[in-house]
Amino acid sequence: MPDFFSTAIAHPNIAFIKYWGNRNNELNLPASGSLSMNLGALTTRTMVRFAPSLAADSLILNDAPAQPLALERVSRFLDRVRELAGTPYHAVVTSTNNFPTGAGIASSASAFAALSLAATTAIGLQPDEASLSRLARYGSGSACRSVPTGFVEWLPGDTDADSFARTIAPPGHWDLVDCIAILHSKHKPVGSTAGHRLADTSPFQPARLQGAPTRLAVCRQAILDRDFNTFAKIVERDSNLMHAVMMTSIPPLFYWEPASLELMKTIPAWRAEGLQVCYTLDAGPNVHVLCLSKDVPEVKKRLEPFPQVQRVLVSPPGGAVQLVTD
Ligand code: PMV
Repeated sequence: MPDFFSTAIAHPNIAFIKYWGNRNNELNLPASGSLSMNLGALTTRTMVRFAPSLAADSLILNDAPAQPLALERVSRFLDRVRELAGTPYHAVVTSTNNFPTGAGIASSASAFAALSLAATTAIGLQPDEASLSRLARYGSGSACRSVPTGFVEWLPGDTDADSFARTIAPPGHWDLVDCIAILHSKHKPVGSTAGHRLADTSPFQPARLQGAPTRLAVCRQAILDRDFNTFAKIVERDSNLMHAVMMTSIPPLFYWEPASLELMKTIPAWRAEGLQVCYTLDAGPNVHVLCLSKDVPEVKKRLEPFPQVQRVLVSPPGGAVQLVTD
């Protein structure tokens, strides 16, 4: 095999109905379904080159050699691609994000979605969208949702074959925008891989899971109907339920900063005044503030004066993972 390379870009996604906890950690089968939107303004770009001459895999992240643990995770993922292709060759992986690293924006979803497409293409495979989503799932669960375009649902499935994500609506369906309030943070949060394994230690996880299919159905319909008020209430509730599980696991995981809570109290008050806005938080202190594109200037104007808000990143819905030729 000669040198074969390929480059792909992918967007991270924000979950409206969250995934927290697995029913099978080896296969990354989630305990419940989830629903998200790709973030079109944020991009990971990844180049993969397989070559017979390479003695080992290597990984350059944002122009610097990656930490050994990150390389190990990528190498394990490439083993799966090599097995699919029946090829022994190692690879050079070069990946850059156009969004600030260390600001608490999880990049694993866009990283493994881009890596899945770049690596499979470079090695000569042509998986369909569902197979690519299944593959990305092994890198990081939420990465399966960064493969299809727009508003995306991850079907939890019972086996490897039926646990993948699919589009429920294209990016142009609804002019929803994520205004991410990046907070000054003193803490380095526990990563989601470790966090998922703690979910079952919370007595609240069964109750959260019991209501998850209904919340997902309500949220899916609210997106399809562009019904902001129904959407806002279910999205905030689902985020709060996930954080209740996190805070009551053993050991407990406290992802919020004081300013996270302040915003969580303030945003529903803005909504009560008539501004269409709601919040959701992932495994970190940053507050994802969802609104319609016409209200972005107003939302930014209200968020920026909070002393702990470092900056506000704004993103509309984004497309699917895709190959780039330049
Ligand atoms: O895919 P992971 O392991 O990074 O987990 C993502 C977990 C949350 O972001 C907190 C929720 C979600 O559904 O994206």
